Amino acid sequence: MALTVPAFTPLQASLWLTLCGRALDNRLPRPILGDTMADEIVRKVDYDYKKLHIPSGSVINIAHRAKKLDEVAQRFIARHPDAVGLDLGAGLDSRVLRITPPPTADWYDIDFPEVIAARRELLPAAATPHGIAADLTGSTWLDPLPTDRPVVAVADGLIAFLSEEEMISLVGRVIDHFPSGVIAFNGYSTFAVRMQKIAPVGKAIREVSKFPGFNDPRTPERWHPKLKLAEEILCTREPEVDRFPLGLRLMNRLAAPSAVLSRPGNTVLVYRF
Ligand SMILES: C[S@@+](CC[C@H](N)C(=O)[O-])C[C@H]1O[C@@H](n2cnc3c(N)ncnc32)[C@H](O)[C@@H]1O
Repeated sequence: MALTVPAFTPLQASLWLTLCGRALDNRLPRPILGDTMADEIVRKVDYDYKKLHIPSGSVINIAHRAKKLDEVAQRFIARHPDAVGLDLGAGLDSRVLRITPPPTADWYDIDFPEVIAARRELLPAAATPHGIAADLTGSTWLDPLPTDRPVVAVADGLIAFLSEEEMISLVGRVIDHFPSGVIAFNGYSTFAVRMQKIAPVGKAIREVSKFPGFNDPRTPERWHPKLKLAEEILCTREPEVDRFPLGLRLMNRLAAPSAVLSRPGNTVLVYRF
């Protein structure tokens, strides 16, 4: 028998979009991410993913950017085995199970209390080694975290739901808390903001989206004097495109030579401080 779908606010419920995207990727003949845990949860609660109208291109983009963010975290932790990892707005993502950090690193998943409670109910304990039940726009959730270790903070799908001021102050609090590190998140272009307003897949999150979007990857450098762009990952140029279905593969191949054409699509931005 299916478990009851947890009751979430519309903002919290945005997690279904990314979770179902990864679950549907896992059901493809050649998955990009292969997130079996996402698939298991969606089946366990018998979530009606069809109502989200996720087109196949978005399924692939969601899985692809998750893979790129996993790689950013893995690379950072390989260089800094004592790192602190943060998944900002973790939803029901079991990223730590995919990246398997060594025991010397500590991984924290941060999201609203209802979401952290749902993680404990639906995911194995190992998926949330440290859960922080908090509103990320608050100022105290970082207090219990170490201040003397490098940090890798990833935010997959969070940025749309914060205002620019909230994003700037969140980034500032992370930078002021840790001695050094990287902050990585999916790019959110003004084109993506416009598409979300008209595409059926945007319907579920339209009312709770706040971020205005930006196109220049250097824009966040203005958010904090220490923040510097380390890498702009244009997904059109990544090797996984070889596994995309034909139409999407061709579109990516055509856009790949041009950063201007690639940026409105799927990107992952990595900043260091
Ligand atoms: C689109 S979901 C992405 C979830 C997850 N990162 C994933 O990839 O499946 C956005 C998540 O951000 C969380 N979120 C949004 N605003 C937040 C805030 N102010 N504080 C804590 N979590 C927040 C939501 O609860 C939701 O789980």
